[in-house]
Amino acid sequence: MLTLLPTKVPLIQFILNNKEINTALPPGMLLLDFVRYHQNLMGTKIGCREGDCGACTVLVGELINDELVYRSMTSCLLPLGNVHHKHIVTVEGINMQDLNPIQQCMSDEGASQCGFCTPGFVVSLAGFCLSREQPSYEKAIASIDGNICRCTGYKSIERAAANLAGLMAERKNRHAIDFVVERKILPDYFKEMKQRLVAIKSNNNGVLESRDIYKYLGGGTDLYVQQPENMLNADIGFLYDKVNLKGIKKVGNRCCIGASATVTDLIESEIIRSHFPEIPGFIKLVSSTPIRNMATLAGNFINASPIGDFTIFFLALDAQLVLSDGANEREIQLRNLYKGYKILDKRPGEFIKQIFFELPSKDTFFNFEKVSKRTHLDIAGVNTAISITMKDKEIHSTSLSAGGVGPIPLYLFRASDFLKGKILTEAIIFETIEIAKAEISPISDARGSKGYKSLLLGQLIKAHFLALFPALNVEKMLNY
Ligand code: FES
Ligand code: FES
Repeated sequence: MLTLLPTKVPLIQFILNNKEINTALPPGMLLLDFVRYHQNLMGTKIGCREGDCGACTVLVGELINDELVYRSMTSCLLPLGNVHHKHIVTVEGINMQDLNPIQQCMSDEGASQCGFCTPGFVVSLAGFCLSREQPSYEKAIASIDGNICRCTGYKSIERAAANLAGLMAERKNRHAIDFVVERKILPDYFKEMKQRLVAIKSNNNGVLESRDIYKYLGGGTDLYVQQPENMLNADIGFLYDKVNLKGIKKVGNRCCIGASATVTDLIESEIIRSHFPEIPGFIKLVSSTPIRNMATLAGNFINASPIGDFTIFFLALDAQLVLSDGANEREIQLRNLYKGYKILDKRPGEFIKQIFFELPSKDTFFNFEKVSKRTHLDIAGVNTAISITMKDKEIHSTSLSAGGVGPIPLYLFRASDFLKGKILTEAIIFETIEIAKAEISPISDARGSKGYKSLLLGQLIKAHFLALFPALNVEKMLNY
């Protein structure tokens, strides 16, 4: 049952383009509706309202470790409660007297036809210009991976992105904000934004607090797709900006991830990159840049989708969770969180506080595989991950997970146990596949028949071993 608004309505403060906003509107209201219907900024378009089309893209600037960091996000999944103390940039906020260079690049290449998608592309490309990373053509293209255009066929947009990447190449080691303001790519007011956010933050309390919590909310990328109407006036416990839920750190040999860490935080973490050098390739298969900028890892676990990509990823790392109700804490293995379809071992009032796992040794090999109808921006038909530790030629331990082949994200206990102590051969892999197939219970649905999914899992297990152990006999493997 829904709780109505708390008696004391929290005031949300942020900067929208160049204007300070103080609002007592419900913190569950979507930013998209706020900018269009309460600020009359109609440049931010409504397409899918599910985070898929990018027409509603905005930039969110946030102070992180004393640095102002901008990331693109879809405003159709972003509640006001998650923009408190931040800088929100809509397409109106990057307009200049004339077309700015981003818009000029789009215009020069005929990259806009009906124009409906164009503000989203322009804002995403502005995010590319403000990125802390060194600009490149590949990064310009990656920045628009969450934007869909039904008219242009994309080639003209790619040319516009290439031209912009050329302009940005002159940045060299300059600070992104200094460079884009100096070159009049973005308006002057960006220069003072850091000081303005510092001032707002120091005048105000941090995160919005609620007493009678109806729902805890992380990045919102799932809840706002499933129940947007319910969220508007719900009393929400906003976890996304809680300082004690942020960050990825190494404690001894353990990697500890705050529950509000996003997928982007994971990709950018030096700890993760050094232990999982392949991670940028895996993550390109998961959603889009704006969604990765918002979605939290804990949200992916709690969503309990049988094909949650990060659930499958962390199951193979044998991750553990710290659950908290604010007063008490307990630890459980991720693999024990799922009791049935969308049924969790989670008590009312509990939320994930931390995720942790042992960092792999140099003898541990990790791989993630996913098949979906489209390579990018699609949910998996079947996905799987493996972590395998070798001791000389013998398999010391294995954790194998699989999604889309049962009612819950699966840790494949029997297949994982079977491999322990074995010498790795093609025949052992074939036996593992048969054991794994006996452990799953796929159903036929829009993503494929149960027979297809079972076959697919077998192929993906082969793909794990072929990716990790190139000395295996490929022909023999493929003919099985
Ligand atoms: Fe389509 Fe927001 S309206 S991503
Ligand atoms: Fe029409 Fe892109 S120009 S949707």
